[in-house]
Amino acid sequence: MIKIMDEGEVAHVYWGQKLDHFESLDCKDMGKASGLAPLYRNGFSLGDLPQEYSSNQSTDFREPSYVVRSSSGSTMSSLKFKSHEIYNGKAALEGLPATYVDSDSQAQTLLLTMTDEMIGLEVILSYTVFENSNAIARSVKFTNNGSENISILRALSVNIDFVQREFEVLHLAGSWLRERSIIREPLRPGTKTIQSKRGSSSHQHNPFMALLESGVNEDHGDVYGFSFVYSGNFIAQAEVDQHGSTRVQLGINPHDFTWKLEPSKSFQCPEVILVYSCNGMGGMSRTYHNLYRKHLCRGKYRDISRPILANSWEGMYFDYTADDIVDFAGYAKDLGIELVVMDDGWFGNRDAHVIDGEPTSGLGDWYANKKKIPDDISGLAIRVEQKGIAFGLWIEPEMISENSELYRKHPDWCMRVAGRKMHPSRYQHILDLSRKDVCDYLSELIANILRQGPIAYVKWDMNRYMTNIGSAAFPADRQQEIGHRYILGLYGILERLVSEFSDVLFESCSGGGGRFDPGMLYYMPQTWTSDNSDAVSRVGIQLGTSIVYPAISMGCHVSAVPNHQTGRITPLKLRADVAMMGNLGYELDLGKLTSVDSELIKEQISFYKCIRNTVQFGDMYRLNEMSGKCVHGVQYISPDRMEIVVFVYMLQARPNSSGIRIKLKGLCPDGKYTSGTTSKILSASELMQHGLDVKLESGDHSSSIIQLSCCKTKM
Ligand code: DGJ
Repeated sequence: MIKIMDEGEVAHVYWGQKLDHFESLDCKDMGKASGLAPLYRNGFSLGDLPQEYSSNQSTDFREPSYVVRSSSGSTMSSLKFKSHEIYNGKAALEGLPATYVDSDSQAQTLLLTMTDEMIGLEVILSYTVFENSNAIARSVKFTNNGSENISILRALSVNIDFVQREFEVLHLAGSWLRERSIIREPLRPGTKTIQSKRGSSSHQHNPFMALLESGVNEDHGDVYGFSFVYSGNFIAQAEVDQHGSTRVQLGINPHDFTWKLEPSKSFQCPEVILVYSCNGMGGMSRTYHNLYRKHLCRGKYRDISRPILANSWEGMYFDYTADDIVDFAGYAKDLGIELVVMDDGWFGNRDAHVIDGEPTSGLGDWYANKKKIPDDISGLAIRVEQKGIAFGLWIEPEMISENSELYRKHPDWCMRVAGRKMHPSRYQHILDLSRKDVCDYLSELIANILRQGPIAYVKWDMNRYMTNIGSAAFPADRQQEIGHRYILGLYGILERLVSEFSDVLFESCSGGGGRFDPGMLYYMPQTWTSDNSDAVSRVGIQLGTSIVYPAISMGCHVSAVPNHQTGRITPLKLRADVAMMGNLGYELDLGKLTSVDSELIKEQISFYKCIRNTVQFGDMYRLNEMSGKCVHGVQYISPDRMEIVVFVYMLQARPNSSGIRIKLKGLCPDGKYTSGTTSKILSASELMQHGLDVKLESGDHSSSIIQLSCCKTKM
């Protein structure tokens, strides 16, 4: 609920559970100035008003939603309501990823126009509500209607003021190989900030924050989620003020960001998806999962199950030839795998100069290395296809090695600050995607590769953070636009490629999960979740990821033991049971499997084929109440509630254990379910109230998957 105050200030009144009736809509005391508050107008201070979009230096000392510098040099500004419009449907955001609807009846959008007349600034706040979803998409557009330039120093996408509520904050933090741990902490007076200044959404912090009322658990309590549909630098803040009110903001990070807005030009901020849940964390997650699956991911693969793949990386690294890949495809096919992916190492002079296991050359030279792949990509793809399995390719197009033909030819295409030393990471630099010529070159180059042969899948990697942020193509007063312009350039390339190659399945990757964000999911419907493929680590990483992202978006692979990242040895069963929580794949030398392991993998694959629709398209419930016991559980239930799959993992043995009983969730209330392995028929109420007894083998690293089907909907 929004209120336009007497003099045009736009106040935030309420967001939460649907209200039957609301008496206080005149909201007389809203904005009444508290002690020592400077007055915006008589008796009224913006610092005491919950607002939809807060401004700078206009009697509100909390964080502003935007800061602009006008030609006078001043950064003072305030906005007044001008007009509003409501339409059915949801318009696309030019050049940016965003949620969408298939028909106008699925959503309604409110546009609220505010202006700062003195400097000719127009700000349009956009709100979309979706049919049958507790989600609101918000974004903001700035237009300079004046005759002088305006500099935008801060342009956040959302501002919400909660009046006098006590919250905990939940966010997803970590590092490379340790992405998206769930962090939950109380909010105290002051500001809690999470952000990325690394040029990408990052391994360290996901562009997401949630506020939780005290006592919230998986199933109960009020939760407010904020998820940013963007892949670059972001900031998310929760500020508790002097009166115990909380302001939440999310948007492009103002750090190193300034945008010169010329007269009659506009700047579009990316969107934030707000989700309200009165059903705890689980309710919030399922709302995000459904929305992102159906209204963010696009293309052919939105609605069809994802192939089981085998990736060459951990099995062969750079050490392979076309013949090895064809053999790999043959082994994979025998196991029931559907797609083979040739990872890093196939192009240019990639592994000619290796330091400490890292190649120092080749990125930018996207043609097959004839010594390794004599028949080119097209020849190899055909040979793989002849094995009866689809072919996929790894690329890392945003990067450039100093030791590459591309760099020697176009050193100015590299992102750099003139005169400053370059700072390589993984011996690579970043191509300047703020430049149109570089973007045109790259999209044509990749399109040509994809046109060459039957390539069914692309793994799009990006393996470094941004430093030396500068572009030779832009003047000094636009250098602070480069980080955002890079992301816009990337989105432009991806849009072009996914439109032309709509049959290709794209998976995004950034040193594993360094760019696992909704922006990337708009173009590529799955993401390699983490470079850490250890089953024990993966349980935590995948559960953390599931807070926002659906199972169908997570690439999850079974790899060899001892695990290459942790050295841990876990049973093949646990590794597969964990990988089946998302999109199953295998990433190990399939030619070296023992016959026992081969048979086990065949069984795993045929089992996954039976459950994957439920995992990939079903509702997910985290059965977290068990986590204190070193046991984790996840349940998926098909949309028609006929099929259930429950995963139970005991990562550490529990001595003197009395067994594990888990209560299932979200079942068809009058349903009767059978497991297929026993003749027992269990009622939904028994499964949800009494619970299901699960037997696990004793010892560390045991796991079980229980599959149940609804046999009747009435007892
Ligand atoms: C990082 C990715 O996350 C890995 O899976 C692999 O593709 C390497 N890059 C290749 O360089």
